[in-house]
Amino acid sequence: MSEKVAVFDTTLRDGEQAAGTRLGSREKVLIAHQLAQLHVDVIEAGYPASSPDDFEAVRLIGREITGPAICALSRAVPSDIEACGKALAKAHRPRIHTGIGASDIHITGKFQDERYGKTLAEKKVTILQMAIDSVKLARQYADDVEFYAEDAGRADPGYLFEMIQAAIDAGATVVNIPDTTGYAVPEQYGALIRAIREKVPNIDRATISVHCHDDLGLAVANTLAGVLNGARQVEGTMNGIGERAGNAALEEVVMAIRTRSDYFKVHTDLIASEFHRTSRLVSDMLGIQVPPNKAVVGGNAFSHSSGIHVDGFLKERETYEIMRPEDVGVTESRVVLTARTGRHGLRDRLKKLGYSLGIQELNQAYQRFLAVADKKQEVFDEDLVAILQDEFHPVPETYQLEYLHIYSGTSAIPTATVRVRVKDGTREGAAIGDGPVDAVCKAISGVTGTSAKLARYEIRSVTSGTEALGEVTVQVEEAGRRVLGRGVSTDVIEASAKAYIDGLNKLANFTR
Ligand code: KIV
Ligand code: ZN
Repeated sequence: MSEKVAVFDTTLRDGEQAAGTRLGSREKVLIAHQLAQLHVDVIEAGYPASSPDDFEAVRLIGREITGPAICALSRAVPSDIEACGKALAKAHRPRIHTGIGASDIHITGKFQDERYGKTLAEKKVTILQMAIDSVKLARQYADDVEFYAEDAGRADPGYLFEMIQAAIDAGATVVNIPDTTGYAVPEQYGALIRAIREKVPNIDRATISVHCHDDLGLAVANTLAGVLNGARQVEGTMNGIGERAGNAALEEVVMAIRTRSDYFKVHTDLIASEFHRTSRLVSDMLGIQVPPNKAVVGGNAFSHSSGIHVDGFLKERETYEIMRPEDVGVTESRVVLTARTGRHGLRDRLKKLGYSLGIQELNQAYQRFLAVADKKQEVFDEDLVAILQDEFHPVPETYQLEYLHIYSGTSAIPTATVRVRVKDGTREGAAIGDGPVDAVCKAISGVTGTSAKLARYEIRSVTSGTEALGEVTVQVEEAGRRVLGRGVSTDVIEASAKAYIDGLNKLANFTR
């Protein structure tokens, strides 16, 4: 069996430090429950001394969550550590995470006051002592104490080794080597972890943890370099959220270790099929969207679009997928239909929709598909159904718009008058609405006597400039049937009326 790498999740602490976000204690508890489902080894729940809310979040999570260790952050300041101790008093497995700046830049920049010493050398002596004292104090509250040497990525290695050794002697069980500013590059960071293992005499009494930031987009690569060189705890956040450019994305680190176990030769205990759910929850609660191209949890992570890829993927999934979507909790891979998808992709989707076309019909449908795909980013299933209806079963025009007049303005009640040709002649009617589109739809409903409802409305410009053509797409629903209607005009209200009538014509001649 390979060695285990523990997973330390700091979504609720470092992740929540992402600009413009704030979680309440109840929201944090909800996320913590999901992190426990994911089987992370440690949840860093917050920084209790920073606010009463954070204190409460740590207290509640410590009391409610039983699986993972619950960790609280502090500076090397007695009042911070005491706050951690109190907040974690009822935790099943408490851990205190304390530490101090280790780089010359941090020491001279953050400890400018002369009470820390006049020269850099004097300050370094004081800081070292503060590190020792903080670990000793933290050990009075918890048996599990993690020490962080802040900005280790830019620290003088000799001083860093001395600090780590002293922290372990003072009782630290885990030593965290943060690349706080995301400055390191993988080879160098890996070499630093290796040097710590070789040069710190008591290192076998502690676990080395890696904590990397993404300022140069290297957080995951640096974390993995740390693992290759002996780190046995990885720190990160879901979706890679965090201060500035964020932290190492845990889902990426874990899936790299798992997918390339042949290379890393270690494992984690995470239940990866919980990744998708966890990612969604964190994104929703913090209001930070996951980019579609994000590895593992992005909306496009298991989507295929270009003809060559779709063709290969449909023949043999492994040609273009190194992970199975279900392994990370995504139901299935997706073929996104675009102008580049190709005939094979189209035929496969049509088959899934229940249409088996012969070669000639497929070619015909493909030409229409290309015409639509050239105008849209993605062709949806409803578009395909509309194409097939049009191409092979043109919809008779039960209703035809003959005349439309709109009265609307900033202080006027929007009113629409319409004349529609129906089977037995023409009908005219008027209606008021919440807006001009609403008034038009109501007027058309009135003259056609339909009970159809507008279920979705979308507008986009087909061309640019003030004379742009507007394309309106609607979904119209009646008695459990839902169809797509489309209308194009330089006047968006007219485009809306045409789209609505198109939808009503399809409902009146519903064939599928
Ligand atoms: O990035 C960092 O150095 C940190 C420490 C507080 C662990 O987040
Ligand atoms: Zn950090």
